[in-house]
Amino acid sequence: MNHKIWRFDNANSLYYALIDSLAQSISKIVDSGRNPVLALPTGNTMIPFYRIAIESAEKLQIEKWLCFNLDEYYPIDESNEELTFEEFMEQNFYSRLKEPVQLKKILDGRTHTPEQECLEYEKLIKSHGGIDICILGLGLNGHIGFNEPKSAFDSRTRLVDLHPQTLMSNFNGQAIFTHAMTMGIGTILESKEIMLVALGKSKAQTIKSAIKEPPSTQCPASALQRHECVTWFLDQEAADLI
Ligand code: GLP
Repeated sequence: MNHKIWRFDNANSLYYALIDSLAQSISKIVDSGRNPVLALPTGNTMIPFYRIAIESAEKLQIEKWLCFNLDEYYPIDESNEELTFEEFMEQNFYSRLKEPVQLKKILDGRTHTPEQECLEYEKLIKSHGGIDICILGLGLNGHIGFNEPKSAFDSRTRLVDLHPQTLMSNFNGQAIFTHAMTMGIGTILESKEIMLVALGKSKAQTIKSAIKEPPSTQCPASALQRHECVTWFLDQEAADLI
């Protein structure tokens, strides 16, 4: 098993170390003659990551990436489209790249057939050989993607209910979206490599449950203990209880 827990004194050094690790993994894939397939996260934690990634586009060979977002709110209409992850990704990443990625996919929150959308997403990921590198943020309640507590560790891409705590942290308690589509924990665990980023005191207890306590569906991120190759990028505050 190849689990690394890296702690950083400040956020900036964490993001640069993440970029370096990512660049190394991407190079190996490109040198083997393939385009890297990535699962990409959203969330405030990831905004500086995307900014630095854009500045490091050449080193990261971003123009070779095939990108699949982890999750998207559901259902999207004109009243809520500014809050979608599609919008987040355009604003923070895709629209600011000088050279576009090879493929950008996100679950379609406007579909009327979410079950079918999720099945097709899984098929598309498989048709590209699966996810090489999955980058994850962490929800306060331990969610990865939108796999909320009680999600099965073998769950696949599907429509889910959002947890009240998620509504609280993402929308100040307002029920702007109550559902989402997310890659499953099983889907995430099939990635060849996982890099998780967590910053701040508010994530310390969740990090402890995820890393130090026996795996439990109460803390979805604890499923990562069952993966072969995970690097945890933590600041001192998030790592305070481990
Ligand atoms: C959302 C996403 C998660 C992400 C989480 C973390 O809920 N669905 O994939 O990990 O936000 O958010 P933040 O970085 O803002 O704490």
